[in-house]
Amino acid sequence: MTLSPATEQRFAREVAKYPADQKQSAVMACLAIVQQEQGYVSAEAENAIAAYLGMPPIAVHEVTTFYNMYNQQPVGKFKLNVCTNLPCQLRNGQTALDHVCHKLGVEPYGTTADGVFTVQPSECLGACADAPVMLVNDREMLSFMTEPRLDELLDTLKADAASK
Ligand code: FES
Repeated sequence: MTLSPATEQRFAREVAKYPADQKQSAVMACLAIVQQEQGYVSAEAENAIAAYLGMPPIAVHEVTTFYNMYNQQPVGKFKLNVCTNLPCQLRNGQTALDHVCHKLGVEPYGTTADGVFTVQPSECLGACADAPVMLVNDREMLSFMTEPRLDELLDTLKADAASK
């Protein structure tokens, strides 16, 4: 994969934030840029980032696979991460995930056939007191996601997807 000049320019801005001999420090930012532009981080993109930053492709892959906000395959328009870490488990986190999967007819990590939703379990999102907790598209945090609130959310997102 060849990086576009625009992408290279964005990479260069990130690399410039670090000392010249430590440009590998920009790896997370470069992965985030690729994901923003392409929706996920492919193996080809990892290789291109590795070449750009002068690091082994496996070292880039280790970062991609360590953080679950990096998508390793294409995801739906709405990525729903439901926290199933222990404190949330104790307050219906797993039930919330099961409910969303059941409503959408997917298994965890699955994407609906229409490409609108991807559902994933998530590690702690740092808001345990608000369980069940979820994150929409890695940005919007939602608390106290009881089944009625989950139903309402799914209806709203479905309507949003249908209107575009
Ligand atoms: Fe779910 Fe912390 S365990 S937010």
